[in-house]
Amino acid sequence: MARGGAAGRTSVSTSKKRTSAATGRGSDAMAKKSLPAGIGDDAIVMLKADHKVVEGLFKQFEKSGNDPSGKRAIVDQVIKELTTHVYIEETLFYPTAREAAPDTAEHVLESIEEHHVVVWMMSELASTDTSDERFDAKMSVLMENVRHYVQEEEKEWFPQVRKAMGRAALQHLGARMAAAKSQAPADPLELLSADA
Ligand SMILES: [Fe+2]
Repeated sequence: MARGGAAGRTSVSTSKKRTSAATGRGSDAMAKKSLPAGIGDDAIVMLKADHKVVEGLFKQFEKSGNDPSGKRAIVDQVIKELTTHVYIEETLFYPTAREAAPDTAEHVLESIEEHHVVVWMMSELASTDTSDERFDAKMSVLMENVRHYVQEEEKEWFPQVRKAMGRAALQHLGARMAAAKSQAPADPLELLSADA
């Protein structure tokens, strides 16, 4: 299963940097090497990459037909990816974005309510058997909600946050978000928005 996200990208860029350093070529790698400690992938680039990973899994689910074990594996991966994504958004990205761009407050609050629905649907999907006639219906509603929320984030308010924060601050935030990924809970109901 394809797995993108920050970890994958970091390892690619690290190996690229090593190769470039060894050959003495690659201005991107050298520029990255000179950045201060704590600078990572841009936070918004990282969140958009997560969205792509999840959309890829949704497409796999839509093509999975009548394959219960395949569906289970895809949905479990969706729950894992989205729980981690929501965790870093709620603990780091949203509070920082709201402070940097106060005009986004309404969007942030709406996104938390959307997370609330998604989090409870993920919790139900985790304990619903793929043979249950409601399983596909639950997954369809989850996908609709996530696709809607991704559109809102990417089109309506991430650009405002980018403008307010600038690239360097987004890279620092990205580094903190990448480090926090390993602390994400396994249970979606442990996310802040479960109680929103
Ligand atoms: Fe998101």
